[in-house]
Amino acid sequence: MFQPKRPSGLALANRKVVRKISASASGLVLVATLAGSVTSAAAATFDATAHPINHADSLWVVVNKIRPLYPIKYSPVTVRPRFSLPSTNNPYGHELAKPAALAIVILAKAMKAAGAGDLILQSGYRSFGEQTYVHNRQVQRFGLKAGEALAARPGYSEHQTGLAADVAALGQGCSVQFCFGNTVAGTWLRENSWRYGFIVRYPKGQTPVTGYDYEPWHIRYVGTALSRQMHKDGVTVLEKFFGLPSAPGYRN
Ligand code: DAL
Ligand code: ZN
Repeated sequence: MFQPKRPSGLALANRKVVRKISASASGLVLVATLAGSVTSAAAATFDATAHPINHADSLWVVVNKIRPLYPIKYSPVTVRPRFSLPSTNNPYGHELAKPAALAIVILAKAMKAAGAGDLILQSGYRSFGEQTYVHNRQVQRFGLKAGEALAARPGYSEHQTGLAADVAALGQGCSVQFCFGNTVAGTWLRENSWRYGFIVRYPKGQTPVTGYDYEPWHIRYVGTALSRQMHKDGVTVLEKFFGLPSAPGYRN
């Protein structure tokens, strides 16, 4: 894991956030008492400090327009997900950071089994240089304001962590468009991806917080502990969950 020489202010702030949440029913242990009755004890708690939110290589890193990657030119170790149908699921040969690569294969299997379609990985890990290209292209097409509501500046994209993926579904259309949210696959992902450790990172109505337009296709791997807790709490964005400021725009 990347170790900064000195903890930043954010690192210290993160450590001070102690959010222990009692377990859900599924996490309860049944305990037999002497009287023969059965009682329950919370066996699992959610620890919001389990992973840092400010290191680019952390599962819970929060990246947005006021939280660039640290270090800004971070590049993760990536692998190509081992889909059962690689030519359909990953026609462009994208890679992801290892935990996300393992999880997206399980997500794709579950999506298929639910009748929600064949997942297509449209984008995965993007280097600082690749993000420069993506950002420039959107800004040239739509102008600075609209372009930056679609694409992050290099050093500010979750794609550079290897934990984010843009997904579509075979034959369902609306690839990387708002209307993907109304497809069977987009609906299934919004309702079920948390079960597999993913969140839809830029939900509808959260632009003032995330700084990005609705992206029903952009999923972010955070692991099941966090995705389940966010689902349980009804919190859809990382900024609100971790009590961070909204990030509607860049500071400069
Ligand atoms: N489209 C997302 C915000 C990115 O460029 O990282
Ligand atoms: Zn994306």
